[in-house]
Amino acid sequence: MSGQGTWLVTGAAGFIGSNFVHLALGERWCGRVVAFDALTYAGNLGNLERWTADRERFDFVRGDVADPDAVGRVFAEYEPSAVVHFAAESHVDRSIEDPAPFLHTNVTGTQVVLGAAREAPGAPRMLHVSTDEVYGSLPLDSTERFHEQRPYDPRSPYAASKAGADFLVRAAHHTHGQDVVITNCSNNYGPYQFPEKLIPLAIMNLLRGEQVPVYGDGLNVRDWIHVEDHCRAVRACLERGRSGETYCIGADNEQPNIEVVRALLPLLGRGELAIRFVRDRPGHDRRYAIDASKIRRETGWAPRIAWKEGLADTVRWYRENPEWLASVRSGEFLSYYERLYGGQ
Ligand code: NAD
Ligand code: DAU
Repeated sequence: MSGQGTWLVTGAAGFIGSNFVHLALGERWCGRVVAFDALTYAGNLGNLERWTADRERFDFVRGDVADPDAVGRVFAEYEPSAVVHFAAESHVDRSIEDPAPFLHTNVTGTQVVLGAAREAPGAPRMLHVSTDEVYGSLPLDSTERFHEQRPYDPRSPYAASKAGADFLVRAAHHTHGQDVVITNCSNNYGPYQFPEKLIPLAIMNLLRGEQVPVYGDGLNVRDWIHVEDHCRAVRACLERGRSGETYCIGADNEQPNIEVVRALLPLLGRGELAIRFVRDRPGHDRRYAIDASKIRRETGWAPRIAWKEGLADTVRWYRENPEWLASVRSGEFLSYYERLYGGQ
């Protein structure tokens, strides 16, 4: 599969999707990428700017994964040899405010992509990118970690919508023998992350001389992985994962939120006064932690980027790309699509 063929990447203009495309084309994991994305508030075609002129190896199609006609047309036109399904509504706080777009994209959209892949010539493998949040929440005072056999226990509308999608993918394998693989990864950080998530939000606020809002007591734990390590894990599962299997992805890097923010302060020349404790997120999951022994054992994947270096590089990226931050804040990047693909 590697080195040739066309990979259909949904949600490719978002944070993880765009990092995946940079690696897939930059390191020639495949012959061509077709990026399919609705360009919601979180999708930025500017993230893929370096590839838009390379018409041989890259194409972009704007569309909604929940629209069977649009998805069907992409499969018919490009005949992908593999599908990597990132497209989703991804922010927990937004799902608490309004779950409807989460059901539309994460549940209906996944079913549409799944059905189209099954019907397509050669029925290409679909790698469904999911989250560790489907497993629920772990107590702070335990060493327990999420693993593939753990029962699902989603606790936010976002997590519930991702769990629903995962079950549809599992059901397609069980019922139709469809070639699918599911990955459940922990919290990602790195370049191109929309500044609604903790790390880019904190960096942006610290750069602007503002405070960082820390929810509740700041002791909630997340298991952080650099986005490039996640993307390499997705590739490993696409190429070497067993059909119908689930792989948990993580980098053994549990951090309380307050320590994440404290690690950022010196990198941005700020002190403790830049921290502001605010009202907690409703239903805030206490702790996530991943046991990634299955993917390590079965695919040989291992994370490469250490937390300290990864965080410093991420801060450097945001410092060096103030225009990116300014454009995503203003929504200006939406005009990029019109400029390049307006006639499509
Ligand atoms: P993101 O919000 O940055 O990007 C999502 C992308 O999907 C955007 O480009 C958006 O325009 C696109 N999209 C949204 N609705 C669409 C629709 N109806 N049709 C087509 N495109 C649509 O998200 P992300 O952080 O890059 O996450 C990507 C995937 O990885 C998601 O499935 C998410 O659940 C999963 N995940 C994320 C993390 C994390 O820490 N960010 C961790 C584990 C798993
Ligand atoms: O675990 C994987 C998941 O990680 C992904 O599936 C989601 O798409 C992704 O958004 C992320 O979910 P979280 O809710 O863990 O990420 P977020 O960046 O929103 O928050 C991280 C932690 O920081 C969480 O405990 C809430 C807290 N937080 C968040 C924000 C935005 C704050 O304390 N202050 C903030 O301003």
